[in-house]
Amino acid sequence: MILEARDLTKHFRTGGGLFTAKGLIKAVDGVSLTVEAGETFAIVGESGCGKSTLARLLMRLLEPTGGAVTFDGTDVTHAKGRDLAALRRDVQFIFQDPFSSLNPRLSVGRLVGEPLEVHAPGMSRDARRARVAELLEQVGLRPEHADRYPHEFSGGQRQRIGIARALATGPRVIIGDEPVSALDVSVQAQVVNLLADLGRDLGLTLILIAHDLAVIRHMSDRVAVMYLGRIVEQGRTADLFETPRHPYTRALLDAVPDLEDRGGASRARIEGEMPSPSDPPSGCAFHTRCPFARDLCRSAVPPLEDTPNGHATACHFWREITAPPRAGRGRDRSAATTARLELYRKATEGAQIIPVPTSETNTGENP
Ligand SMILES: Nc1ncnc2c1ncn2[C@@H]1O[C@H](COP(=O)(O)OP(=O)(O)OP(=O)(O)O)[C@@H](O)[C@H]1O
Ligand code: SF4
Ligand SMILES: [Mg+2]
Repeated sequence: MILEARDLTKHFRTGGGLFTAKGLIKAVDGVSLTVEAGETFAIVGESGCGKSTLARLLMRLLEPTGGAVTFDGTDVTHAKGRDLAALRRDVQFIFQDPFSSLNPRLSVGRLVGEPLEVHAPGMSRDARRARVAELLEQVGLRPEHADRYPHEFSGGQRQRIGIARALATGPRVIIGDEPVSALDVSVQAQVVNLLADLGRDLGLTLILIAHDLAVIRHMSDRVAVMYLGRIVEQGRTADLFETPRHPYTRALLDAVPDLEDRGGASRARIEGEMPSPSDPPSGCAFHTRCPFARDLCRSAVPPLEDTPNGHATACHFWREITAPPRAGRGRDRSAATTARLELYRKATEGAQIIPVPTSETNTGENP
């Protein structure tokens, strides 16, 4: 186990201005999870369910309201100074948007070398330059790209620069918050496979936030499904996709992603609006949208219970509702996910990392 969250909460205070009433948003509301060293752990759920907040709590970019975070056996919930700097070195972040997350005024060499200036101040300039060249090659770029600027690269290339930057300090954990959803589908496949290869070759632990179920199925060992700040189901990826136990997971898997859309638009959609995290429903928060809801669901919060096939589910009635595994209908409806998976598999065949030609400049489309 490398990273653990225990009953982690983050509540944001909002409003209280001239036109808005004071409110409390329960963005993360009692999340417990463990991430094992070397695995890829995915977090999935609709927009606003608290995925990014959870990721930021795990790497202490946000101060939790309650609960605890443990990294490699050490409680880092309130780490400061040198301890926090060590955590920053060991746990790195890849952002969704490679366009805005890179400072346009810095050359690629400076961008990738900057974390080394912070975390390895004793490193000579030559050693740093050599390390930057090595990092660029690791992500399928060329050493001479160090002298160029972010605007000269396409979206996929920029995300590679972001990945090289994240790798600079030799982290043990990388958290990717929608790392490919801003990219074109064909480019997504390459970046997804690059991350998977790097994870395997460098023995990294990956925490992956993605809306795209194909990305999750392709890459992750285990998945946690979030709804309104809580984990409602968690288990090994193959089991969870084959026999989802929670009605919300079933609904997510049945929602049809659109292969033609860019990643962001292919988000799974399910019936009804997600309630506001500032006023979550009583009992099981999913009861306002759940086709199986009964009286008990409105009054009692279901605990996250272990199920026989090794996942944990927070539903009072999981035994009854999910008795027959998903019928063929569900599989047919997720044909677009299957097609996307096929694309990733094909991209994995042959060259693992597709190098970028030296002469290539930004076309806005090419990887
Ligand atoms: N700094 C903040 N102040 C107030 N509310 C916040 C803040 N950050 C997040 N929230 C709220 O917390 C909830 C969870 O947000 P979060 O960004 O974690 O969701 P998400 O699952 O990552 O969504 P998305 O898929 O759209 O990225 C949302 O209702 C959001 O508006
Ligand atoms: S506890 Fe009730 S409302 Fe919640 S998911 Fe289960 S059946 Fe649906
Ligand atoms: Mg987010």
